[in-house]
Amino acid sequence: MTRAPSSETDIRLALKALTQTAHEHTERRVEALLPFSKPDAYRSFLSLLLSMHRLGKDAAALIGDERLQAREREAIGLIASDLGPESSADLGIPLPSRETGFAWGILYVCRGSALGGAVLAKRARELSDRNPGRLGVGYFNHCAQQGAAEWRIFCRDLERKRPDLASAGAGAAFAFDTFARLLETRIDLCTAGSGSAVGLTVGQ
Ligand code: HEM
Repeated sequence: MTRAPSSETDIRLALKALTQTAHEHTERRVEALLPFSKPDAYRSFLSLLLSMHRLGKDAAALIGDERLQAREREAIGLIASDLGPESSADLGIPLPSRETGFAWGILYVCRGSALGGAVLAKRARELSDRNPGRLGVGYFNHCAQQGAAEWRIFCRDLERKRPDLASAGAGAAFAFDTFARLLETRIDLCTAGSGSAVGLTVGQ
């Protein structure tokens, strides 16, 4: 029998359990993209993270949480600055649900991804050092410095709001699915040797 979540830890752990396979898949596919092997691949990866945080910003607006909106805007600003002119491509992924629980699930994925970003920051800096003056690492540095602390605040907020678990689980699954779809497109573009890999059509 499935026990109803009784605390913040239960909600977060339930979301973690629900999305564990998706996360493992995401990690594997990200690594397949070799995001820290060369500048184009790195920028492709950053572009995906930009699309995800734009989705996060819309989710935060839906639930009317100004702090989370600010955090998502901050992530968007850092990535846009790291990318430079390439960041103008907006994939326009619409929110498929107006349920607040669904939006919390999307935000769980967006906020949680900073934990992975913290792990990846060293590799981003190493790639930047090998390509002086060509790559921004502001986003990953921010993940390394603030990711864990912001994650704790997010988990506290999640506890206070206590969204419906089924709805949040659906939102988290949607966010991981969307990211996986974008990743596949990027991998195609990279293996096709297209260089800067701008101009995705997902969500149009
Ligand atoms: C190679 C890329 C990635 C690596 C190495 C990675 C690694 C990690 C690590 C080490 C954690 C912390 C786990 C823990 O403390 O128990 C984490 C958490 C998380 N990551 Fe990733 N990650 C990656 C990519 C992503 C991406 C792209 C997303 C989103 C699309 C994502 C979403 C999450 C979420 C939601 C959590 C929180 C899980 C929880 O509830 O504890 N990760 N990741």
